[in-house]
Amino acid sequence: MKNRRWRVAVLPGDGVGPELMKASLPVLERAADLFGIRIDTDIGEAGLECIGKYKTNLPEKTAKLLRSSDCVLKGPMTTPEGKDSEVSAAVKIRKMFRLYANVRPCKSIDGIDSIGKGTDLVIVRENTEGLYSGIDAMVSDNMAIGFRIITRKASRDIGTYALSLAMKRKRHLTIVHKANILKNTDNLFKGEILSAAKKYPMVRVDEAHVDAMSQWLIKNPGSYDVIVTENMFGDILSDEAAMIVGGIGTCPSANIGKSFAMFEPVHGSAPKYAGMDKVNPIATILSIKMMLDWMGFGDAAKAVEKAVQYSIYRKIKTYDIGGNSKTSEVGRFIERELKRH
Ligand code: IPM
Ligand code: MG
Repeated sequence: MKNRRWRVAVLPGDGVGPELMKASLPVLERAADLFGIRIDTDIGEAGLECIGKYKTNLPEKTAKLLRSSDCVLKGPMTTPEGKDSEVSAAVKIRKMFRLYANVRPCKSIDGIDSIGKGTDLVIVRENTEGLYSGIDAMVSDNMAIGFRIITRKASRDIGTYALSLAMKRKRHLTIVHKANILKNTDNLFKGEILSAAKKYPMVRVDEAHVDAMSQWLIKNPGSYDVIVTENMFGDILSDEAAMIVGGIGTCPSANIGKSFAMFEPVHGSAPKYAGMDKVNPIATILSIKMMLDWMGFGDAAKAVEKAVQYSIYRKIKTYDIGGNSKTSEVGRFIERELKRH
């Protein structure tokens, strides 16, 4: 297993995506060299610029590349907003491979100013259904509807994923929902997770309404370990949690399925900064760290995390976290500081 060759599809995306990937990929290559991991990367096209060129943000040749890869490292992509516009490429890939668990760690890093010092939590977001199922339509000139799909299977799967993650951490799981209002959908969601929890008696399980959670996260971020929630709530809370640990520029994510995974920064494509060599590559670099962990190379993942921490300690930081280094400088520093400990 350790000796196998890994095929990683790389989708740089648009906006600041390409410059982030350019700064971050050398970190992956260096980690592979240092730890003897055999990784082949193939660059693919996806995102906004493909729409003009191929009339889709996920061209067939990219879909083919993904199908022949083990996982994908994805940069941010702009999702159009018009009412009949393309479905987001990220959502398409999540559905295509049933990447049901969106894992978003929020960990404060020494040297980054934040209201959440000492925070170390993970949001586990259901990634395939809820209001983001895309069943969203005009039913008349005056009315539009969106369906919030919640199935027993997806709820149980995400619950089981979150519970087993909690077992490897502080054994505390918080289910976030709004079952007092969304009575059928969220009672189904919560009920399935509570029933899955019977197999994990060591995990302390509690719950919170999503609105209350949005203030408790700010008030008391240190009291959470693993938070499990449905798709839209997780999308919103993960941006909030990122800000609590110092901003969206440092937060990575993993989209995990049974045999395929996608790793991407939580932040968007920030087109107004495109080409300025300005934005923070840490979210992308820590997404690489999550990828190495997923592949089973915990030592390499740790080394990447350490090099990131060291860059902050040495104040090689981008503007969003109080520094004045460029994207490329941060990437280069982290690449050079990567060591086998
Ligand atoms: C995210 C983003 C995406 C999502 C969009 C761009 C599809 O907001 O990854 O958090 O909602 O999942
Ligand atoms: Mg989001």
